[in-house]
Amino acid sequence: MKDLYSRLAIACAVLLSVLLTGLGIVLGQFFPLFARDVAIDLQRQYWVYLIITLIIAFVISLLIAMRMMMQYARPVDEVTRVAVQIAQGDYLIRTKTDEPEYDNELAIAVNKIASNLQEMSTLRTMEQERLKTLIESMGSGLLMFGREGAVNLVNGVFEKTFGFSKEELIGRTYKTIGLPADIENLIEAVFMTEQVHEKQVRLDAGGLFSYMGVYGAPVIGHHGNWLGIVVVMHDITKLIKLEEVRKDFVANVSHELRTPITSIKGFTETLLDGAMNEPVIMKEFLEIIQKESDRLHLLIDDLLELSAMERESFSLQFSQINLKEVINDAMTIVSGNLERKKMNFVLDIPDQIIIEGDAGRLIQVMVNLLSNAINYSKEQTKITVSVKMMAHDVLIKVQDEGIGIEQSELTRLFERFYRVDRARSRESGGTGLGLAIVKHLVEAHSGTVELESTIGIGTTISIQVPLRQ
Ligand SMILES: Nc1ncnc2c1ncn2[C@@H]1O[C@H](COP(=O)(O)OP(=O)(O)OP(=O)(O)O)[C@@H](O)[C@H]1O
Ligand SMILES: [Mg+2]
Repeated sequence: MKDLYSRLAIACAVLLSVLLTGLGIVLGQFFPLFARDVAIDLQRQYWVYLIITLIIAFVISLLIAMRMMMQYARPVDEVTRVAVQIAQGDYLIRTKTDEPEYDNELAIAVNKIASNLQEMSTLRTMEQERLKTLIESMGSGLLMFGREGAVNLVNGVFEKTFGFSKEELIGRTYKTIGLPADIENLIEAVFMTEQVHEKQVRLDAGGLFSYMGVYGAPVIGHHGNWLGIVVVMHDITKLIKLEEVRKDFVANVSHELRTPITSIKGFTETLLDGAMNEPVIMKEFLEIIQKESDRLHLLIDDLLELSAMERESFSLQFSQINLKEVINDAMTIVSGNLERKKMNFVLDIPDQIIIEGDAGRLIQVMVNLLSNAINYSKEQTKITVSVKMMAHDVLIKVQDEGIGIEQSELTRLFERFYRVDRARSRESGGTGLGLAIVKHLVEAHSGTVELESTIGIGTTISIQVPLRQ
């Protein structure tokens, strides 16, 4: 097809020349009829001239025919070649349109088709890229099944969550993948009912539980035809755990509030039932009631404090403070308890440590730590507070020689209401909120808290806060 027009041009030129030659020969035949009296020599000379003229005419007509045909055939050949390339997917190719002998209109139209196709293909590639990026970066696992129930699309999050690779999934039907039964059932339900289904699924990875919100929906095409189903899974473990923490918190608060209230109620009733007539018992009961009310008061104060700290509007009053003064103030507050237990206090701190912080809150932190060191230590032991300056931070350590804490308990101590020995802690008036408050306040100072402890030897709490906020 490619050189058809060129070949046609040559064929036409030859045909034209043959026709002209034929015409010449015929005319040559007739010429002598009109010149019968002309001498033979002259006639022969005529023939020679005629043949030479005819040969020249043949060559000239051949050249003219070839040139004329080529003028039309070449551009068509060129456009055909370009059209074939476009059909093969090369949308960047263009045919020449600026040469005068070319068939401009056809060339321009072919070029336009090519540029339109190129534009469409660029758009399509862009859209595909966008869709691919969206699917891969959506943060949820995605799985798509065709009408016949075989996987035709899967993203990286799904591969990572379930440990499958794309290659092993594509083309597999949902029953042969080995998905958790709950997810399999959901997929089946979507296939059967062509309706959206949603479910919370618990996954067990060797005793480590995670939770998934699984959402399955039918995929319906433009014309309402059913194309398959799509399944999206997102990790809701954090949400579920938060919900558990919230439930635990409510349960703990209720429990903590009920204990002193039950006690107050019980003693009041006993007093009213007649015990108030005996002064010794009355005094003892009233003292218990007072102690329980104090506990209740403390608990409610701590709870209000914690919830205030968790509010977004919570902010610290930063100023230049001398850490030595902060520690001395905290010491004064706990000195009564310290003396009661005849404990020693050692302070190892440079004279001037000026940091940027909230003095009131740092005193609160130190009071909590010192109270713990006193409450969970035997009498006549020692508490050491040391402060060390570093390049950008200050390191405060509170070390006691107390009962110590099991390694397994260390990570949970900063949880609200968590106490190693509930009975003992309650006896000392503790609510289990102290360390939770400490952690909040230190973190509000952009600092960190660490705890080291050995049973029977003692506990060291280290706080690191930046010198500048
Ligand atoms: N220095 C310490 N030595 C041994 N155990 C400690 C020490 N500090 C804290 N603990 C343990 O950690 C638990 C939690 O401490 P936290 O200060 O949060 O609560 P609490 O002291 O029981 O009550 P409060 O809210 O009055 O401080 C305590 O109940 C105690 O069992
Ligand atoms: Mg405490």
